[in-house]
Amino acid sequence: MNPCDVLIEGAWLIDGSGSERQRTDIAIAGDRIAGVGDGRHWQPKTRIDARDRVIAPGFVDAHTHDDRAVLSSPDMTPKISQGVTTVVAGNCGLSLAPLADRDPPPPLNLLGNREWYRFPTFDNYAEIVEAQPPALNIAMLVGHSTLRVGVMDDLARAATPAEIDHMGKLLEQSLAAGCIGMSTGLAYPTARAAPTEEVIALAERLVPYDGIYTTHMRDEHDGVVASVDETLEIGRRAGVRVVISHHKACARRNWGRTKETLALIEAARKKQTVNLDVYPYIASSTVLLRDLVDASEKVLLAWSEPHPELAGRDFADIKRAWQCSTDEAIARLLPAGAIYYQMDEDDLRRVLSFDDAMIGSDGLPHDVFPHPRLWGTFPRVLGHYCRELGLFSLEEAVRRMTSVPATVFGLKDRGLIREGAFADVVIFDPTSVIDQADFTHPRQPSIGIDLVLVNGRPVWHDTAWTGECPGRLLRR
Ligand code: ZN
Ligand code: CU
Repeated sequence: MNPCDVLIEGAWLIDGSGSERQRTDIAIAGDRIAGVGDGRHWQPKTRIDARDRVIAPGFVDAHTHDDRAVLSSPDMTPKISQGVTTVVAGNCGLSLAPLADRDPPPPLNLLGNREWYRFPTFDNYAEIVEAQPPALNIAMLVGHSTLRVGVMDDLARAATPAEIDHMGKLLEQSLAAGCIGMSTGLAYPTARAAPTEEVIALAERLVPYDGIYTTHMRDEHDGVVASVDETLEIGRRAGVRVVISHHKACARRNWGRTKETLALIEAARKKQTVNLDVYPYIASSTVLLRDLVDASEKVLLAWSEPHPELAGRDFADIKRAWQCSTDEAIARLLPAGAIYYQMDEDDLRRVLSFDDAMIGSDGLPHDVFPHPRLWGTFPRVLGHYCRELGLFSLEEAVRRMTSVPATVFGLKDRGLIREGAFADVVIFDPTSVIDQADFTHPRQPSIGIDLVLVNGRPVWHDTAWTGECPGRLLRR
């Protein structure tokens, strides 16, 4: 008989590899999985009866803006309540580090105001996270817009060679301190003026560290195909692996164009490493921007600094009440964020079903009225798209949430349940798991997530945070 801390008995194991479920017992000792198989060989301190439940590797949220949330709300309830055990932060060109003593322009203000941008180096940030860890693990990207804001006096132009060199040094410092790559948000005012060459020059610095390049592309609207081309070119010319963030085709006139983009990506995958992430909703969310308002069927206000009382309201109603133009309404609401209905359900299903598509919430944790993806993404894929609509098997859904992102982001010994792996696990009810957060009540925990362990410790149990914070900063 071998001693262990926890023995999970009788669960259906979906191990993250995509292979079919099998009934088994799982032994956990310390922060690792000590054994998978017949539990009679183990002498546990605690037994957990998991009959009729699925046990799977904890989910990896491939696309987040949780840089500050892990510091300001270390319980990370919106995520652990979904079975998420690792978040990849620093996406869309915005990371909290390295940047200090600047007023963050939109969209950097999605993460917080000047007080929160107080980490001149990535190492400063890493130290704080490790001194006060959150409930789950975090892997960090450095944002290209964050680098630009720190280094450039004028964001509406290309960076000079000297500025690229300065940004490159900050990036290399961050990679040496454990960040896993760089993100861009080329659609945003902070980075729109950056030419492809500027991004390639920075992406080249990722190579010695095997860092990854993720991108909120320059154009997800009329220019979405050209943007996929640009992304693939950056990957090829810099020699880096790329991830296309929250892939979609926005605005009614572009609906259906994911057929073109996915064909391009599929063809490119024969020659270079390219992946994508997606969230399971037809509405997007970010700061309030005129071109996004124009491209949307409907817009909801997510937050407004001068008008917090209007969060959750339809932008068209606000305009009507104020009897003003779109530009004037935007001017009165800024700084602000919004939810944009601008995608097509068929495109969404096509992207979700694409080979190796990763699930990333893109949740915005500091919004007053957040897009429901913050609380609902993973159970929505499991319950709605997998169980109700049959888009793919449960085994495949879990693979897209676990071993695929663990491989793409280089998360060692995570994303699979097997002997020796870290004990990041979720136990859920496959017959009832479903999201509850919606566009009326966006802060609802999901149903059916029974127990979540991070590094062997319980963080979510009986519909509540356990009070534990066993998360780690995952370095390359
Ligand atoms: Zn984005
Ligand atoms: Cu994002």
